[in-house]
Amino acid sequence: MKQLMIKAFGDASQLGLVEREPAPLATNEIRVKMHFAGVNPVDAKTRAGLGWGAEAIKDQLPWAPGLEMMGTVMELGAEVSIYHLGDRVFGLLGGGGYSEQLVVPANALLRVPRAVSDETAAGLSLAGITAWQGLTEHGALKAGERVLISAAAGGVGHLAVQLAKDLGATVIALASPHNHEFLRSLGADQVLDYREAGQLAALAPVDLLLDLVGGESGLSLLSQVKKEGRVVTVPTNTAEQVIAAAQPLGLNATGMLKHNDNQQLAKLMQMVVEQRLRVEISHVYPLAEGELAHRQIETGHTRGKILLKG
Ligand SMILES: NC(=O)c1ccc[n+]([C@@H]2O[C@H](COP(=O)([O-])OP(=O)(O)OC[C@H]3O[C@@H](n4cnc5c(N)ncnc54)[C@H](OP(=O)(O)O)[C@@H]3O)[C@@H](O)[C@H]2O)c1
Repeated sequence: MKQLMIKAFGDASQLGLVEREPAPLATNEIRVKMHFAGVNPVDAKTRAGLGWGAEAIKDQLPWAPGLEMMGTVMELGAEVSIYHLGDRVFGLLGGGGYSEQLVVPANALLRVPRAVSDETAAGLSLAGITAWQGLTEHGALKAGERVLISAAAGGVGHLAVQLAKDLGATVIALASPHNHEFLRSLGADQVLDYREAGQLAALAPVDLLLDLVGGESGLSLLSQVKKEGRVVTVPTNTAEQVIAAAQPLGLNATGMLKHNDNQQLAKLMQMVVEQRLRVEISHVYPLAEGELAHRQIETGHTRGKILLKG
């Protein structure tokens, strides 16, 4: 069984395939053959030795990243009755998604509905949960409000645009011009080029900023928010800086770290089934080419999601 592992903190060349003994199966666990695993910016930051992700695994190297996946059940623990062999499952993981197969508690994953493709199921979980929690739990977005979403064409952003529309908000999306038509097709009411200061200057103030870029970008967008409006700044490494700058402006600003919630995930999947939410997959790489996948996510200009194929 092969896993794509971070051998040591560093650039993308630190990822390499490692042959591993399959893990033993406890009575309440299932073994899943991975079909697709999502690649997220946090995987690359962790590999580079940055942030909470690297802090958490620094004593466990070599370590296989991968916080979401889709696959089929290939073995059942003795007490597991909720699945059959061959069932399609997906969901969030604590790591290890970059593996040909993995062992998880039977209740950790969810079933993939028949109408939903393997790729969509693999790409939904992490970005979908982050977008949902950012807009609702942290952003308290209500129907009729105006929300500004940066990095709107990216993994989290393209789902946030659709979820915010579904919640009844007016959505202003920021992206490079080649992504504007894509964002309109997802329902964005207004699409602006974040490099054009004039376009932003003409924008009426918003109730909520969902900041998916952080740093200088997050700081510069604070002036677009109404007095006493809300800011959710999602990249954790610059959250303190953005929050500190927002408070003197009279804004309610918060950072966030997504938490795994299978009820929310089931709700998002139901929206996919009802065609109220779609997951854009822009690149699929074989597991062995994870290095290329990391180089792509590190461009900072991926549309939608990237997957590894098991
Ligand atoms: N706190 C949490 O729990 C949590 C969870 C998930 C993600 N995150 C973080 O949230 C961020 C977004 O994640 P993601 O998966 O959506 O990333 P992503 O898919 O890599 O985002 C790519 C998008 O970023 C846009 N972009 C790059 N620079 C920009 C700028 N200066 N202004 C506006 N847009 C810009 C690009 O737009 P164009 O190509 O159109 O230029 C591209 O569409 C990452 O930092 C990630 O680590 C945090």
